[in-house]
Amino acid sequence: MSSKRLWGGRFKGSLDPRIDRLNRSFDFDRRLFFVDIGGSHAWAAALQRAGLLTKKELRAIAGGLGRIMGEFSQDTFKPLPTDEDIHTAVERRLIELVGEPGKKLHTGRSRNDQVATDLHLWLRLRCEQLRRDIAVLALTLAGAAERAGEIAIPAYTHLQRAQPVLLAHHLLAYVEMLDRDGTRFLVAARAADEMPLGCGAAVGTGFPIDRKALAKDLGFKRVARNSLDAVGSRDAALDFLHACNVLAIHLSRLGEEIILWASAEFGFVRLSDTIATGSSLLPQKRNPDGAELARGKAGRVLGNLVTLATALKGLPLAYNKDLQEDKEAVFDADDTVTGILAAMTATLEGLEFDEKRCAAALKGGHLLATEIADYLVRKGVPFRTAHEKAGTLVARAEKEGVDVAELSPAVMAEEVEEIGPDITRALSIKAALKAKRALGGTAPNRVRAEIRRRQSKPAAPTPPRKRRPKS
Ligand code: ARG
Repeated sequence: MSSKRLWGGRFKGSLDPRIDRLNRSFDFDRRLFFVDIGGSHAWAAALQRAGLLTKKELRAIAGGLGRIMGEFSQDTFKPLPTDEDIHTAVERRLIELVGEPGKKLHTGRSRNDQVATDLHLWLRLRCEQLRRDIAVLALTLAGAAERAGEIAIPAYTHLQRAQPVLLAHHLLAYVEMLDRDGTRFLVAARAADEMPLGCGAAVGTGFPIDRKALAKDLGFKRVARNSLDAVGSRDAALDFLHACNVLAIHLSRLGEEIILWASAEFGFVRLSDTIATGSSLLPQKRNPDGAELARGKAGRVLGNLVTLATALKGLPLAYNKDLQEDKEAVFDADDTVTGILAAMTATLEGLEFDEKRCAAALKGGHLLATEIADYLVRKGVPFRTAHEKAGTLVARAEKEGVDVAELSPAVMAEEVEEIGPDITRALSIKAALKAKRALGGTAPNRVRAEIRRRQSKPAAPTPPRKRRPKS
C-alpha cells in the first residue's frame, strides 16, 4: 500500500499485518462518524478563534467535512487499508479533499481526547434514545395492564402460590423498574456531559483554545478539568453499561414470566400469531422466542460490562490502547438492549390474557389463608396467634382435601372460636384484592389509578434541558 499512515513520519518499514489486524478499529468505530465529524468541525472553529486557522481555511475544512459526512451517510465512503480507525480515516480523506488546510485540523489535538469526546457525544445521544424506547415499552405495559382489567392471578413467593393479585398490578411492577432504568440512563448521560476535547494526548493542549466556548458549541455542560483523567477514564461508558445491565436484567425477568405464563402449565397468556414462532418439527408449537432471547441476551450485556470493567481496572494513567475495547462493549450492549426493548414492546402488544386459566389458578393453594388471619386480627386476635389459628384451618382443609376457603363457617368455628358467619365476606378473591388498598397494594381502585397515572405521565420522560446561565 503506497499511502502512508498519519503517524508515519518516523517509520521506515510498514506495519506487520498481524499487528495491524488486531489494532484496526475502523470496522466497528465507523459508527462514530457523525460525532467524529461534528467534533472535528467544532475543533476547527476553535482553532480559527485561537488564530491557528484563517476563516478561509476553516471554510475549506468545513466543506470537506460536510462532504465526508455525506459519504458516510450514503455509505459511499471508501476506507483505505491504512485507515486505522474512524479518526484517521476522516482526517486522511479531509486532506485528500481539501489539501493543506486539512493538515492543520489536528493541531493541538490527539486521538486520545478526540475519541473520548466522540464517545461522550455518542453516549449522550444513545441515552436519550434509549430513554424514549424505555418510555414506549412502559406505555405498552400500562396498556396491557389496562387490557388485563380485573383479571386476578396468584402472586407467588418462592414460586409457590401466595395471595391473589391483579395481573395488571403484576405488569405495572415492570413499569416501576423501567422508570428507574430511565433514571439510570439519565445518570450515564450526565456523566457523558463533560468534554475531554482540548486535553491533547495526556497533558493538555499547548494552544490558546477557549475550551468553554468549544464545549458550548458541542452542547457539553461541563469541561473536563484534568487532562489525564479526561483521556484515561471511561466512567460514562461504565455508567452506560451498568444502566444497560439493570435494564437487561429487568427485561430478562419479564421474559421469563411471559415464558412461564405462556406454558401449558400456567396458561395465563396466549401469544398472538405475530409474536409466536413455530417449530420445524413439532406442528403444534407456539414458541416465545422473543421473550426467550430477552432472557438469553441479558448475559451478553453483563459480559460487556465485565469486559470494560476488567480492561480498566489495572490501567495506569492515562490513555492505553486497551481503552479501544470500550467501543465494541458499548456498541454491542446498545444494539442488544435496543433490540430487546423493541421485541418486548411487540411481545406486550401481542399478549392475550386467558381469563379462565387465570381464574383456575386461583382455586388451589389456599390463597386466602392470610385473609383468615387478617380477619382474626380485625376481631382483636394478635397476628402471631391469628397466623397459628389460620394454620390449623389450612391443616384441616388439607385433611378434608379442600381449599381452606371452602370450609364452611361452622367447620371453621369448630377449630377457631373467634370465627363467625361473617368470615364468608372476607373469603373471596374480590374481597382479598379490595382489602389491599394501602398505597402500593393491588386493590383494583389503586391499580386503575396507577394505570391512569402511568398513561398520563410516562416512565422515564426526558427532562427539559436547563438553560445555561450566562457567565
Ligand atoms: N482507535 C483508538 C481508540 O479507540 C483511538 C485512539 C488512538 N490513540 C492512540 N494514541 N493510538 O481508543
